[in-house]
Amino acid sequence: MAEILVSENITGEAMTRLYETHDVAFDPNLWQNVEKLARQLHTARAIIVRNQTKVTRELIKAAPNLQIIARAGAGLDNIDTEAASEAGIVVSYTPSENSISVAELVLGFMLTAVRPIPKAWLHTRSGGWNRMQFVGGELFGKTLGIVGLGRIGRLVAERALAFGMTIIAHDEFIDPSSPFVADLGARLTSLDDLLTQSDFVSVHVPLTPDTRNCFSSEAFQKMKSSAWFMNASRGEVVDEAALLQALNEKKIAGAALDVRSKEPPEDNEFGKLANVILTPHIGAFTNEAQERVVAAVCSDVVAILAGNSAVNAFNFAEPKR
Ligand code: MLT
Repeated sequence: MAEILVSENITGEAMTRLYETHDVAFDPNLWQNVEKLARQLHTARAIIVRNQTKVTRELIKAAPNLQIIARAGAGLDNIDTEAASEAGIVVSYTPSENSISVAELVLGFMLTAVRPIPKAWLHTRSGGWNRMQFVGGELFGKTLGIVGLGRIGRLVAERALAFGMTIIAHDEFIDPSSPFVADLGARLTSLDDLLTQSDFVSVHVPLTPDTRNCFSSEAFQKMKSSAWFMNASRGEVVDEAALLQALNEKKIAGAALDVRSKEPPEDNEFGKLANVILTPHIGAFTNEAQERVVAAVCSDVVAILAGNSAVNAFNFAEPKR
């Protein structure tokens, strides 16, 4: 059995090089078959995953030789990092390699919300020329509320400022007097204030017990009826039934969702609404971001298997087993 398991669809130049130098088993569907994954993990020294493989305590117990769990992405909510650390396994990830791509997608969401480019494109492609049907709006002068002013939130802020937007942000972990907030051109405020003031609300928080379902009907009630809600973080931070109700009752103007609480989603209720922009968790899916992400995880896997240190370690840089 292989030394390195790749249990999701992860490809790229660095991965091709890894095949040439190491014993790699690549199975993009392995994440769906937990028993098979556990069997293969028995001998593996490294596993490379995206966000679909649930690296649970049970799986970690089934992996006595595992030295590194490499996550090709920023979120660690699919990995039991506590169990990995207890077992002495390095957890490596890519906290910033795809941030620009996610931020650019959010700008794309806002532009699509105010200018119905996909609809106008389809209309024109089929021979139409009804300009009055596609009168849109401007981002200039609108207020963007960013929940979570970490790497991605800041990149969104910088880009939205270039469009002449006013930026307000809420982040419980940032001191309001931190000079970087003013330098960025943003103002920190309470979540309630952000929800009531914003024309666009964009969520950039990790999934934790505190953030799960934190966007509930109470939050949507506070938003302007003309406002858009955007989520390119994790689907589980939103109470989807509450969001659907808010959209159906016109409590908010629209939503743009790159992520869902269950992926792929089990139903298509949001897809029935014309004012919802939906994408299949593609925030990080650009050639540039994927090259960076794959190069970073492969490099850490190679380093650990050669007895060296991981550069992007979340817990510790060398295995303790
Ligand atoms: C991430 O956590 O970096 C993104 O959601 C990308 C992914 O999971 O593939």
